[in-house]
Amino acid sequence: MNPIYEKLLSCVDSVRKVTDFEPDVAIVLGSGLGDYANDIKVECEIDYKEIKGFPVSTVPGHAGKFIFGYVGDVKVVCMKGRVHYYEGYPISDVVLPTRLMRMLGAKILFLTNASGGINPSFTAGDFMMLTDHVSIWAPNPLIGPNIDELGTRFPDMTHVYDTGLRKIIEETAAKEGIGLKQGIYAQLTGPSFESPAEIKLLHKLGVDAVGMSTVVEAIAANHMGMKICGISCVCNLAAGMTDNPLTHEEVQAAANEAAPKFKKLLTESVKRFGEVL
Ligand code: HPA
Repeated sequence: MNPIYEKLLSCVDSVRKVTDFEPDVAIVLGSGLGDYANDIKVECEIDYKEIKGFPVSTVPGHAGKFIFGYVGDVKVVCMKGRVHYYEGYPISDVVLPTRLMRMLGAKILFLTNASGGINPSFTAGDFMMLTDHVSIWAPNPLIGPNIDELGTRFPDMTHVYDTGLRKIIEETAAKEGIGLKQGIYAQLTGPSFESPAEIKLLHKLGVDAVGMSTVVEAIAANHMGMKICGISCVCNLAAGMTDNPLTHEEVQAAANEAAPKFKKLLTESVKRFGEVL
């Protein structure tokens, strides 16, 4: 058996020994959304380190866990903490959690992240709903023998970010009075921030925001036939767009400040996802 698939099945087994909860929606919490669990009626939590072979973040104190429960009437699994490619994991491990959540039952994937804004109309604290992505600088997680049990060899990528989910998010933002931009997100590997020349290049290519996650997860989820949506919290203007050097602390502070509105948008949107399940 394909060793990547074998490991996935073994992780599914580990989870199933703890809970038979079948989520409909999978949510990946990006920077600043770590305490989102407070908005969930929690049924069960599983530390990533309890799942044999599961990638655990290398950042001390950020090991992470799955939270199973309800947002409104909707059954969700939330990832509190994700691993990034820059931590040194093989790309198959970076997308293992996404695949696992699909195997547990999730049909919708809601991706969130922090990004640097490239579109000159963006300011720090803006939310950008992903309409499409650029992944050509991140390794494709589907490289290697195709795992036929998961999906097809050459998946179509024309409609990765589901129009029905996007409509719900747009309507929710309008109803809640939360500003929502839309645009194209590019994933670079990190961990260094981009150079000003790279940002100029990305701008010329039509990229609106840049970060170090999300797209590989979207590719793996699309391979498995999930409906996907994503919102990025634009935490800073990208390198060279202001005179200030970029710091992780600045990104985190902006994400924390935006968190209450971000959580509201997430919760009220997910509550309506029952309409498209
Ligand atoms: N670049 C890449 N990733 C990021 C940034 C950025 O400017 N801000 C937050 N995540």
